[in-house]
Amino acid sequence: MPEYRTYPYDVLVVGAGGAGLRAAIEASSSGARVGLVCKSLLGKAHTVMAEGGVAASLGTVNADDNWEVHFADTMRGGQYLSSWRMAELHAREAPDRVRELEAWGAVFDRTGDGRILQRNFGGHRYPRLAHVGDRTGLEMIRTLQDHGVHQGIDVHMECTVVSILKDDGRVAGAFGFDRQRGRFMLFEARAIVLATGGIGRAYRVTSNSWEYTGDGHALAYEAGADLMDMEFVQFHPTGMVWPPSVAGILVTEGVRGEGGVLRNSEGRRFMFDDIPEAYRNQTADNEPEGWEYTQGSRTARRPPELLTRDHVARCIVREIKEGRGSPHGGVFLDIAWIKEKLPNAAEHIRRKLPSMYHQFKELAGIDITTTPMEVGPTTHYVMGGVWVDPESQMTTVPGLFAAGECATGLHGANRLGGNSLSDLLVFGKRAGEFAVRFAGENGSASIDPGDVEAVAAHSLAPFDARDGDDAHGAGDAENAGDAENAGDAENPYRIQSDLQSTMQERVGIVRTETDMLQALDDIEALKRRAHRVRVDGNREYNSGWHTALDLDNLLVVSEAVARAAVARKESRGGHFREDYPDKDAALGQLNIVVRKGPDGAMQVERRPIAEMPDRLKQVIEEQR
Ligand code: FUM
Repeated sequence: MPEYRTYPYDVLVVGAGGAGLRAAIEASSSGARVGLVCKSLLGKAHTVMAEGGVAASLGTVNADDNWEVHFADTMRGGQYLSSWRMAELHAREAPDRVRELEAWGAVFDRTGDGRILQRNFGGHRYPRLAHVGDRTGLEMIRTLQDHGVHQGIDVHMECTVVSILKDDGRVAGAFGFDRQRGRFMLFEARAIVLATGGIGRAYRVTSNSWEYTGDGHALAYEAGADLMDMEFVQFHPTGMVWPPSVAGILVTEGVRGEGGVLRNSEGRRFMFDDIPEAYRNQTADNEPEGWEYTQGSRTARRPPELLTRDHVARCIVREIKEGRGSPHGGVFLDIAWIKEKLPNAAEHIRRKLPSMYHQFKELAGIDITTTPMEVGPTTHYVMGGVWVDPESQMTTVPGLFAAGECATGLHGANRLGGNSLSDLLVFGKRAGEFAVRFAGENGSASIDPGDVEAVAAHSLAPFDARDGDDAHGAGDAENAGDAENAGDAENPYRIQSDLQSTMQERVGIVRTETDMLQALDDIEALKRRAHRVRVDGNREYNSGWHTALDLDNLLVVSEAVARAAVARKESRGGHFREDYPDKDAALGQLNIVVRKGPDGAMQVERRPIAEMPDRLKQVIEEQR
C-alpha cells in the first residue's frame, strides 16, 4: 500500500479561486468540516485576470438597468445556447452577491454620490461592471480570502488532486499529493465541489497561468460526469503580443470600456466595418457626451470596440491576416486619444487602469497615456465545462458539484466580460450550499483501498519508465500490445508544447474540418507518447512530474474541445468554422455533450436545449 495521510471532511472544495472560495465560505457557514485544496498559493487564481469588473444590474450609473436586461444581454451574448435557468438565477442574484462582497470589505470605485461605480463592457446594454480600477478580480479574491480564513476552513496549498474516488456511484473522496514534498493525501469527503478554473494551458497563447490545465473538467469526466459546450473557447480580443516572453497576458476590456479604440496599421477603426444586425440598435445614452462613434459613412450607436468578444477577436484576426496588423503581429489599442476629450486624460488613465499602465511600462517600455498598445487575441476562458444542475450545481455524479469556469451552462456560445465574476459568486455560493445539504443527507461513504493503490501507482509510473516502457504500467489494457508504445521515453514538457501547437493552430479562433480531424489524430499520437513519459529525480518539488500528471487532463480537455468542435458544423459565438461560416438554426437548439464511454473512448451526444418558459421569452422580446 502507498503511504498517505488521511483528511476527513464533509465537503471538499478543489480549487481556491473565486468560485472555490465562495463555495467553501458557504459550506463552512453551516458548521460543516470543509477542506479547500489549492494547486498554487492561496490568492493566486485566474479570477484576478477578470480585471475590468463584475457584472451585476445594480443600476447605479443607469437606473434603467435591472435583472431582466442583464438576463437578455447574457442570453443574446451566448447566442441562446445558455441554460435559461442559470442565466435567470445569475441575473437575479448577482446584485446581492456584489453587495454582500461590499459588506465583507471589497473597496469598489465610487460614483460622485458614493455608490458603486459601474463601467461599460462589451455586450452589456448599460454600464454594469462594478470595478476596482483594473484590479477587480484581485480585490474579490482578497475579500473572499479574508472572509474565508476566519471561518475555520482547512486550506491545503500547493496540492494537486489526481482522482475522484467513488463508492457505489457516489462521491467518497479524492486522492492527491502535496506538490512541495510529493507526499500523497487522501481526502474523505461526502461531497466535493470542483472549482478548478479553465483549460487555457492547452493553447500556446493564453492569459491563463500554469495551473489551468483542465483539472476539474478531466476529474469529472473520469468520474463519469458529462462535459458540455466544450467547443466554445473564448479568445479574449486583447492580449499583449510583444515582447514574446509576455505574449498572451491580458489587456483588460476595461481599456475599451474607458474609451480605448482599435485601429489597424492604416490608422482606421476597423471595428466599424462589420457591425452585427443584433447590435445595430443599441443606444449610446450611457456614453460620455460628445464621443464619436462614426467613421466615414458608417455609424455605430455604441463604440464598436464593445461588441462581443468573439466578434471583436475575429475582426482583429481578419486585419492581421489581410496585412493591416501592427509590427509585432497584432493591432493597435489606443486609449491615449481620450486626451482630445478629457482635460486630465493621463491622470484618468493611470487612476482607472493602473495595472495596464504598469504592465506596458514595465514589460514593453510603453507609456499607454501617450502611445497605442499592440494587442491580439489570447485564449482566456472556456464556456464549456462540467454539466451541472442549474439550481444545485450537482453534476451527473451524485455528490460531485462544479462551479465557476470548470462548470458550464451560463455562458452558452460566448461569455460577456464581467459575467465570469458574477457567475462564480452566484454559483459558488449555490454549490457550497447544496454540497453541504448533500453531505448532511447522505452520510459518509467508504473508499476502496484498491482504488487508492491503483491511483497511487498511476501517479508514480512516470518515475519508473525506461526506454521502451509504457509508463502507465503493463496492466494498462487500453494500451497493451500497442507497437507505438515501444520507443524512447518522452519528456512531458515537449508533449505539452506539441499539444499547445496543435490546439493553437488547428482548433483555434478559425477552424476547419480538415484541421480539426488532423488535431484529433495528433492528440491520439500525443496520448501514446504520454504513456511513455519519464521523469527523473524524486518527488520533492518535481515540476517535471507535475507536468507529466497534468498531461492526462490536458489531453482529455483538448480531445473534448476538438470532438465537440467537429460535431458543431456551424459558426456561433466563440466557435467559428471557415467551412460552415453561418449559423445553423437546428444546431442552435442543441448542446454538444461528451462523456467517457464504457469502452474508455470519448462519446459525443447532441442534446436538445431545455425549452424556455414564456415569461422569459417575453423578457427577451421586450429587451430587443
Ligand atoms: O478584460 C477583462 O478585464 C476580463 C474580464 C472577464 O474576463 O470577465
